[in-house]
Amino acid sequence: PGLQSRVDGHLREYLSHKAKSNSDSRDNLLSRTSSNGNIFADEGLFEQPEPRPQIQAAMEKVFWIRSVQMHTEQQAWQDSSDGWRMGEFRRSLPAYKEKDAILNAISQNQVVIISGETGCGKTTQIPQYILESEIDSLRGATCSIICTQPRRISAMSVSERIATERGEKLGETVGYKVRLEGIKGRDTRLLFCTTGILLRRLLVDRNLKGVTHVIVDEIHERGMNEDFLLIVLKELLPRRPDLRVVLMSATLDADLFSSYFGGAPSVKIPGFTHPVHSYFLEDVLETTGYRLSAENQIDDYGQEKTWKSNKQFIKKRKSQIASAVEEALVSADFNNYSQQTRISMSCWNPDCIGFNLIEFLLFTICQNEKPGAVLVFMTGWDDISSLKEKLQAHPHLGDPARVLLLACHGSMASTEQRLIFEKPEGGVRKIVLATNIAETSITIDDVVFVIDCGKAKETSYDALNNTPCLLPSWISKVSAKQRRGRAGRVQPGECYHLYPRCVYNAFADYQLPEILRTPLQSLCLQIKSLKLGSISEFLSKALQSPELLAVQNAIEYLKVIGALDESEDLTVLGRYLTMLPVEPKLGKMLILGAIFNCLDPILTVVAGLSVRDPFLAPLDKKDLAEAAKAQFSHAHSDHLALVRAYEGWKVAEYELTGHEYCWKNFLSAQSMKAIYSLRQEFQSLLIDTGLIDSNITTHNTWSYDENLLRAVICYGLYPGICSVVHNEKSFSLKTMEDGQVHLHSNSVNARDSKIPYPWLVFNEKIKVNSIFLRDSTAISDSVLLLFGGTLLKGDIDGHLKMLGGYLEFFMDPGLAEMYQSLRQELDELLQCK
Ligand code: CDP
Ligand code: MG
Repeated sequence: PGLQSRVDGHLREYLSHKAKSNSDSRDNLLSRTSSNGNIFADEGLFEQPEPRPQIQAAMEKVFWIRSVQMHTEQQAWQDSSDGWRMGEFRRSLPAYKEKDAILNAISQNQVVIISGETGCGKTTQIPQYILESEIDSLRGATCSIICTQPRRISAMSVSERIATERGEKLGETVGYKVRLEGIKGRDTRLLFCTTGILLRRLLVDRNLKGVTHVIVDEIHERGMNEDFLLIVLKELLPRRPDLRVVLMSATLDADLFSSYFGGAPSVKIPGFTHPVHSYFLEDVLETTGYRLSAENQIDDYGQEKTWKSNKQFIKKRKSQIASAVEEALVSADFNNYSQQTRISMSCWNPDCIGFNLIEFLLFTICQNEKPGAVLVFMTGWDDISSLKEKLQAHPHLGDPARVLLLACHGSMASTEQRLIFEKPEGGVRKIVLATNIAETSITIDDVVFVIDCGKAKETSYDALNNTPCLLPSWISKVSAKQRRGRAGRVQPGECYHLYPRCVYNAFADYQLPEILRTPLQSLCLQIKSLKLGSISEFLSKALQSPELLAVQNAIEYLKVIGALDESEDLTVLGRYLTMLPVEPKLGKMLILGAIFNCLDPILTVVAGLSVRDPFLAPLDKKDLAEAAKAQFSHAHSDHLALVRAYEGWKVAEYELTGHEYCWKNFLSAQSMKAIYSLRQEFQSLLIDTGLIDSNITTHNTWSYDENLLRAVICYGLYPGICSVVHNEKSFSLKTMEDGQVHLHSNSVNARDSKIPYPWLVFNEKIKVNSIFLRDSTAISDSVLLLFGGTLLKGDIDGHLKMLGGYLEFFMDPGLAEMYQSLRQELDELLQCK
């Protein structure tokens, strides 16, 4: 008695209300997931012709006739004048010289590895060679070739290119299939798909029945899905002795793959590139002896004051670059560079100098250099779109009569895609702003200049639980070399690396395979969803396996958050998490936000946790910035502060004053835009999983109730939790594992002397000298009780035991008692028993 009154009144009301109104949808949810398999079932694009015994003979006859037809059609195209011209181009590619060697190797071995310089014709030609040789030997109608691509955009653009080369429409012999989209017909014999799609097919068709060839492209990237697929294929080979597997990679470590597949032979396609001169930041400085002058100082936001108007700048190109370079060096503080990959991104903030430097370089190239396209490597689409916006406002670079400005990234439209490969007429300079997609998987032939920002952010758009890695990090030496090489395809070129040589020297030789750098939690969920048996056993068979301890930690974490049960099987929650390609903690928030009808703000919270901190804190205006953030801090929550800031931005953006709003409130406009589009993306993922319907407004009934939001945030961030211990003047924080911890100075909670809540949930711990917590939200006892741990799993006992552990640790007998009294009520409310 008395204790129950501590239970947050609001929350109880919601729970009982929700328990009633949601019982339908929950039943629905449970029954749908219990039939398993179905939630992944493909849209039927994969079904193979499956002849019944009685009509087998007839079918064979049909296949035979169709095979002969295909052969004749192909001959006719090759003899036509367009076909001949296309053939000439195809025969000019380096891959053509190795055609016979390649086909021979494939016919004699189950696994073949093919490597060659980017642009030599691996992706567009080799699948075609195989297809053509099948058609020539009158097996055209019965072959089925699948070629996987790490990115949906390459699957789409390559299949279209091949159809053109074959004088066909997409969807005839050649098709593609990516998540939620595909063009494929009855006659399609060569199918390009993302690696994730093939993994999904394996889920329902373990033996890849009817498939004759699997080509895995871009294996040098060592993407998680590709490494994953290789394990699965390796296991499949003995069961399917007739299946042929072809692995394709840019020039790299063929031996590693060869020995993984028991000494499989490899074919190397020789290539050629012109020399490329590369500049590092300080090279330019040294050769010009330029020193920073007063005129080109930058102000706090990195906004240049004078260079455009200052005539002296237009004169000497080298010193112009040097000045911009020196600005960049000063503002980026490279002297403090350490080997860590998580380095301050200030250099590439659009409001800052990195963008100015790029703009400057582009302008100089356009003014002074020989013709040729410019390829700019950026970290991701958000950077690209901000830079594009900036350049469009430039009097020269933004003039379509002089510059063709294009973006090349994973989610671009297909019309834009085609423009990338075309050569502009009339002295127009083509500038392509690209992600690392243009490093190896897309080749733009006329590039002569490359600008390399030195960072990359891999964002995967393929679901099936590929966790996007959203923090940009330094690229590897191999990537830098690849980027440089893009400038020398048609003639000698130039490459500007926008980082000093010392930074380059500290780059890793190769990038770590994704399987070793992605959060293992998501990987474990994926293994489980594909029913691949014991997680640690499966991972021990990888090309390079993650550490056992790391695997165990991940499994343990998944159990704690309720995604796996004690016997390591997926729970209902776990199954939903495998469908959301975000970290489990973010996935949990999305799911609960959807169930509790408060999705709008939760989408903002989740998107906010996936982009770089939108609250800017320039060193010399720290106080002003903190004061600006404090306006949003009413709720003792950094997460809710962001929601407020975002809401304000949305209104301002609608009134076309978004930029001013950001400026005034020390917010990054770029992050705000990134949040805006991530929200859309998460929303469509939730629609895909069936958790919400497309009318999103029906899922926002409770969206402005702060306590409910705290609950959902707690549900996601648990077990990231610390207790608030008040003393006379202020408070201290403790976690179970680390003891005393501190708040990061950017946190809204760091400025308060009192937090009227007993707990904080946090997103991340950072160890500097002591441990600091980033982004926290204050929560009440009742929220922790009800939402900490494993609510949806239904394992109330386990949940209570675990929380009991916390309470005992913090020695709060009152709370422990409250547990007992709440147990029964909880059981009834949540109908979990
Ligand atoms: O896969 P790899 O990097 O070896 O080369 P590819 O993608 O097969 O491209 C071979 C050549 O086809 C490139 O050099 C481009 O010139 C050309 N290509 C094109 O013109 N349009 C496309 N959509 C794709 C390739
Ligand atoms: Mg390729």
